[in-house]
Amino acid sequence: MKARIAVLVSGGGTNLQALLDAQVAGALRSGEVVLVVSDQPGAYALERARSMGVEAVVLTEDFEAQLRDLLEARDIDLVVLAGFMRILSAAFTADFDRRIINVHPSLIPAFCGKGFYGLRVHQAALDYGVKVTGATVHFVNEVPDGGEIIAQKAVPVHPDDTPETLQRRVMEEAEWVLLPRACEMISQSLNKGATVECQ
Ligand code: GAR
Repeated sequence: MKARIAVLVSGGGTNLQALLDAQVAGALRSGEVVLVVSDQPGAYALERARSMGVEAVVLTEDFEAQLRDLLEARDIDLVVLAGFMRILSAAFTADFDRRIINVHPSLIPAFCGKGFYGLRVHQAALDYGVKVTGATVHFVNEVPDGGEIIAQKAVPVHPDDTPETLQRRVMEEAEWVLLPRACEMISQSLNKGATVECQ
């Protein structure tokens, strides 16, 4: 049986698209995205989900309580944060221990934690002058971007990069590769009832 995956989004949803494409290609086969939840009514990710026949729900009021009900009702095994900009409470992350993963657009522990999201992460990397950045997939715990690392991939920074060009390269070369792989690996482990081993 496939692991039932819920993807939480806030914006464009290119990482969600990478997961849906991986399903079509058969690279993500041990799990299936059955639910997409956005905290932003206008998120384009909602359209991406619906166009692939995946249930897409907007939750704004009382977010965590409603999310809990929905995850239980849909019998969700794994929650994937893919461009989800809200920080989940310690109580919530504890209740879903090692069942929530996040993709972050830097090599954690660099440029991460509260206030580091989206283009701000790439701006900070450029401001610092790093020559290599990348993406990280990690378990989610009570510390923003602080849970155990599952996978990372490095990406070069070019001298003429803007936050936008760097973001695009990190997405293409790292995020869209790592996230489907991590979902497949964790789905396999969940199906076997095994503990997930980090790489
Ligand atoms: C992605 O780069 C993702 O890693 C980042 O926001 C972007 C969302 O893009 N997430 C964070 O910064 C969370 N800390 P998407 O909506 O096109 O997947």
